[in-house]
Amino acid sequence: MCGISGIVSGENVAAKLLSSIQNLEYRGYDSCGMAVLNARGPVVRKNVGHVADVAEKELFLSLEGVTGIAHTRWATHGGVTPANAHPHLSCDKTLAIVHNGIISNYARLKAALIKRRHKFASETDSEVIAHLVEENRKKGAPLERAFTSALKDLEGSFAVAMVSIEAPHRIYCGKHESPLILGLGKNEFYVGSDFNAFIEHTKDAVVMDDGEYAVVSDHGYEVKRIRDGKPVRKTIMRIDWDSEASRKGGFPHYMLKEIYEQPETVRKALSVSEDSIVGLAKGLTGAKRAYLTGVGTTYYAAKVGQYYFASEADLGVPAASSDEFLENSPLAKDDFVLAVSQSGETYDTLRLVREAKKRGAKTAAVVNVVGSTLSRLVDQVVLQGSGPEICVISTKAALAQMIILMRVAIEAGRMNGRLTPAEKRRKTAQLEALPALISGFLNEYSGLFHTIAQKHASRHNWLFMGRGRFYPVALETALKVKEVAYLHAEGMPAGFLKHGALALIDDTLMSAMFVPGESEKELHRMTMGSVAEINARGGRVIGFHFSKSLRGSKLFEDQVLLPSAPPLTSPLVALLAGQLLSYFLATVLGRDVDKPRSLAKSVTVA
Ligand code: G6P
Repeated sequence: MCGISGIVSGENVAAKLLSSIQNLEYRGYDSCGMAVLNARGPVVRKNVGHVADVAEKELFLSLEGVTGIAHTRWATHGGVTPANAHPHLSCDKTLAIVHNGIISNYARLKAALIKRRHKFASETDSEVIAHLVEENRKKGAPLERAFTSALKDLEGSFAVAMVSIEAPHRIYCGKHESPLILGLGKNEFYVGSDFNAFIEHTKDAVVMDDGEYAVVSDHGYEVKRIRDGKPVRKTIMRIDWDSEASRKGGFPHYMLKEIYEQPETVRKALSVSEDSIVGLAKGLTGAKRAYLTGVGTTYYAAKVGQYYFASEADLGVPAASSDEFLENSPLAKDDFVLAVSQSGETYDTLRLVREAKKRGAKTAAVVNVVGSTLSRLVDQVVLQGSGPEICVISTKAALAQMIILMRVAIEAGRMNGRLTPAEKRRKTAQLEALPALISGFLNEYSGLFHTIAQKHASRHNWLFMGRGRFYPVALETALKVKEVAYLHAEGMPAGFLKHGALALIDDTLMSAMFVPGESEKELHRMTMGSVAEINARGGRVIGFHFSKSLRGSKLFEDQVLLPSAPPLTSPLVALLAGQLLSYFLATVLGRDVDKPRSLAKSVTVA
């Protein structure tokens, strides 16, 4: 996720561009840059680091010109280097572009452009856009058509803005699957990834749709279809958010925003290259002993992975919490450790991985933050591409990690013959159906979870339970309820109940049971057995289940019939239920949702 901005004005734009990307910094903050047009062409200044530091170092404010574009980067293709920062120039340096999204066919496009003698200055997917436009110009297309033809060649997702010396008072921009919004000022027009790009200057905006592009000048804008250049009539929206609210995209908290971003982060996890997935599967299946690790939520993501390696690949891959790993798991040369981490900076996980390397083990990681210590330390890294996660509580990053581990488990199953190619295809299709399922779920169910949270927020003690793959979901939900709602919550395998926790059951303890679908006959039956045991002792249960036949069941004080999903993905639907419940418990209780007391996003100390 990156932030893009553009301004065409009657006066110098550098200062406004700078403040615009400062407001977009939450979208990505590993590097940034801007290009302002002067009489000779676009002048580009860019570097790695936070916007304020780069602006000072690269003298952003000394740039002079009335048309410019700017960018704040969250690296996906290519490391965090000055060259990979945006804007990117064409070979003849007459035009510059900024891009947000992922161009999935860039390797092919780049190879063809190199054959036509284009010189690339970066490792990014984005740079192809500048060269494509240049190539189209060379072939004689007027600038506007050169731009739209380039967009037509792109596969994947993009929001692009371009300036060229050939049109000193214009910005060309277009989009597909990445957000792009126009801001309408007085003799000043704006382009942005979201309202924060220009909310300081205007509240009138036009939201671009997929397949549209716009030509923006200092006195107006035209929106057209990329496909055939036909003009599109757009409605002007008036935004009545303040900039802080709009940074949260209208959500009251980053946690909720990030929960709602999950269809997109799942898609990103599904678009992680097959090569990376095969690489991890080979590492795991080829090793003498293989382990999964993480800590906090990422330990539970690893634990989810453990269950899928067993079910999809018949492989025993234990998950150990990285803080305990060295004490409970033998580790030697030729073992394989796959670490999971959102930040890539967590002390416990880094300590373990360093030790693993020392002992000659192979190391790999699934990480969200590009350029993080862990990502640089391991032999094999898979970047999950979930974008910045601002809330301390991990939601979207953790779900994406689980998806990647599931893909690796399915691939390992195919490699060792546990799954046929057809079964792999069927399971992959089930994963691919998730984003739509999640969108529907979030839209339809949030209200229900709010109601349940309001009713039960006064309960101080919670027991979350599940069997099989629902057990790590119960653990993760209990962790969330602890950290964000500050309620005492434990996660437990439902089978454990009769081995101790039944003694706790009374009408003050709230039990919550994740019940597998009826197609998982044995697990379903045994889980419902545990629900009955709680009832028999006067306990109260909230049920999260997939069975229409349980509707109205007296065994549950409250229940949520979750949308039906195959056994492969149903635990992930249950995970979302846990996220929403903990979020609404926290808001009902007035907790500091995005920054819970005593916690930190990245724990870099022992
Ligand atoms: C901290 C955070 C947790 C997170 C854990 C692991 O404890 O508060 O939310 O799950 O660190 O972080 P990582 O960045 O390694 O995933």
